[in-house]
Amino acid sequence: MTPRKDLLDIASLTDAEIHFVLDNAVPFKDLFKRSVKKVPTLRGQTVLTLFYEASTRTRSSFEVAASRLSADVTHFDIETSSVTKGESVVDTVETLEAMKVDYIVVRHKQAGIPELIARNTHASVINAGDGFHAHPTQALLDAFTIKETFGTMEEHRVVIVGDIKHSRVARSTSLLLRRLGMKVAYLAPGSLMPRDVPKDVTLLKNWDELWAWKPEVTYLLRVQMERQREPFFPSVGEYHKIYGMTDERLARVRDQGLYVMHPGPVNRGVELNDNVMTYERSLINQQVENGIAVRMSVLYWLRPGSLK
Ligand code: CP
Repeated sequence: MTPRKDLLDIASLTDAEIHFVLDNAVPFKDLFKRSVKKVPTLRGQTVLTLFYEASTRTRSSFEVAASRLSADVTHFDIETSSVTKGESVVDTVETLEAMKVDYIVVRHKQAGIPELIARNTHASVINAGDGFHAHPTQALLDAFTIKETFGTMEEHRVVIVGDIKHSRVARSTSLLLRRLGMKVAYLAPGSLMPRDVPKDVTLLKNWDELWAWKPEVTYLLRVQMERQREPFFPSVGEYHKIYGMTDERLARVRDQGLYVMHPGPVNRGVELNDNVMTYERSLINQQVENGIAVRMSVLYWLRPGSLK
C-alpha cells in the first residue's frame, strides 16, 4: 500500500486503507492483555497533541496509544502558549516544524484547520475533530467495535439518534459504516437534522418508526450546546422525553437485545439516563478501549514525509 502522510477524514480513505487500520488494530488490542503493553514501533519518534478544543477521551487515547508504541509524547498546552497572545495556527505549526515532531494530533472548532496544518508541516497530521466536519478516528473505532461485536459488518443496522446536525462523529461514523456495507438510519428533531442527509440513510420521525426499522445498534449522540447560538428545542426535559433513552425505551432495547453506543462525553438526563451506562449491552466502555488500539494502528500506518 502507498504510504499516507495524514489522516484528515474518512472520505479520502481507500477501502484497502480502512481495512488495513481495522485489521492491524486487532493485534494491538491483544497487547492490552499482557503485563507489558508496549512495543518499540515508534521508538525515537515524537507525537504531539495540539487541542484547541476540550477533550477527555480522544486526547488521552492518542497519548496512551503513542506511549504504547514507545513514542515520546508531548502535549502542547494552548492555555499557557503564545496562542493566548494572538499567535496564528500557521505560526504555531512553523514552530513545531522547527522542533521536528513526527506526528501532530489536532482538534479545532473550525473545519479545515487540520488540512491547513498538514500543508505546512512534514509531520503526519491526524484530525482529532474539526468543527462539524470530521472525526475519522472516532469512526474507525466505532467500526472496529461493531465488527468485534458481530464478527462482520455487512447488513447490520445502526440507528444514530440525537444532534446529528452539529456532529462530526455522525458524519464520519455514518459514512464509514455505510462504506462497510451497513444500513444506517437517523432519528433527530427536525431542527437537529442536517439538510444534506445522504440518500442511502433512512430518516425516522419517532421511536415507533425506530422500533419498526429493527436496528441492532442504537448510537446516541450528545446535544452539542456549545455549537448552538439559539436553543434548537424547547427544553432539556422535553428533549429527553421525546428523543432520549428513557427507562421505558431501555426496557424495550433490553427485550430486543439491542446494543447501545455513544462517542462520549455523555449528558445524563438528556440523551440517556444513568441506567444506560450500566446496561449489559452498552458498548460505551468498549469503544474507549478500542480507541487506543485503533489509534495505535493509525500511528503505525501513517508516514511523516513531504509537504503537499
Ligand atoms: N468522542 C470524543 O471525541 O470525546 P472527547 O471530546 O472527550 O475527546
